[in-house]
Amino acid sequence: MPPRNRVNWLKKPKVEYISSECYNNHDVYLAEQEMIFSKVWVPMCHMSEMYELGDFRTTTIAGVPVIAVNTNQGVRAYKDTHITQPAGTLSGPIEGDELHCEVKHGQMVWVTLDPNPTQDVEQWTAGAFDCIADAIDTEELEVFHYHKAIIDTNYKLWHDTNSEFYHDFMHYFNRVSGFNDEYFARKNIPFDNGHVNVSSFTVNYEEYDGFEDRGELSFPNLPPNQWYMVDLFPGFNFNLRGSAYRSDTVTPLGPNKVLIEFKGYGLRKDTPEERQTRIKHHNSIWGPFGRNLHEDLIGVAGQGTTMREGTETRNILHGRHENSTIHDEVGMRHYYGAWGDFLGVNPARPLEHLPDVYQAA
Ligand SMILES: [Fe+2]
Repeated sequence: MPPRNRVNWLKKPKVEYISSECYNNHDVYLAEQEMIFSKVWVPMCHMSEMYELGDFRTTTIAGVPVIAVNTNQGVRAYKDTHITQPAGTLSGPIEGDELHCEVKHGQMVWVTLDPNPTQDVEQWTAGAFDCIADAIDTEELEVFHYHKAIIDTNYKLWHDTNSEFYHDFMHYFNRVSGFNDEYFARKNIPFDNGHVNVSSFTVNYEEYDGFEDRGELSFPNLPPNQWYMVDLFPGFNFNLRGSAYRSDTVTPLGPNKVLIEFKGYGLRKDTPEERQTRIKHHNSIWGPFGRNLHEDLIGVAGQGTTMREGTETRNILHGRHENSTIHDEVGMRHYYGAWGDFLGVNPARPLEHLPDVYQAA
């Protein structure tokens, strides 16, 4: 095989690929804000963060300030209100345009900027949550962990790292606790609207020095030590590792900057001892000094550096076909198929048909 050089790298690949322009072009970013984030259902917060009447949370969706409030008529959402703080309790009435809002899938609060959504949340998620529904909808969940990261990378690279699993070779913990026949047989399952989930297998936590079996505290109806992931278009991830549940929500801040909010969940009915154990299990994988999550952040920050705006355009291959098993790139192909449909572009040449209004003058 001849050595790779610039000419070889830039040749049109013979397998599926997308262009790095999807990750670093400012017009693509603006089009995504308008044609994706302004249209989809966004899981903006969780009911346990707003238990009492009047409790609210705020966020920004596609640059628009949004608030969700617990009212005596259920959770209501509004945009462009006078409220600016991230959370609190309202003392008076709220003024602003009301938005569509639903509480679904483990009591997440879903909001869309679309004034006339053609699908409700259940239709939008299209069955992607079915695999964990009995685990997250049987008991009330409660947020016990929150942290956020602002990373110089494209939001889709974070979603990619939750979608492709071959980077598991980067995670020492996953290599020792998970690489077995069951792991390699896991399936990537595509759903309508660009969603994917990853089927479960049994993680051998005790193979990692200092860790123990997590079977005793499994979520309801979940067999011991299972690990499911739901990758929801365009950038939301739900990750159930037996005893603890995690969600990631992205807010793109530019083509090469993203705010990611991470939450950890247990059951509201947990005893103090159970809660402590769940927190320990959560933190050991996903907490500030845990395995995995921060390794993933370092990975996507590196990708962001190599593909930032102004770097030479190159091709990102999605050509791995392995019968939809764990390292097959079917999830990536499915996601970028939906992404291209939303923008009306071919992800291999995203600037070719990008709507004129977003093209640089
Ligand atoms: Fe990872």
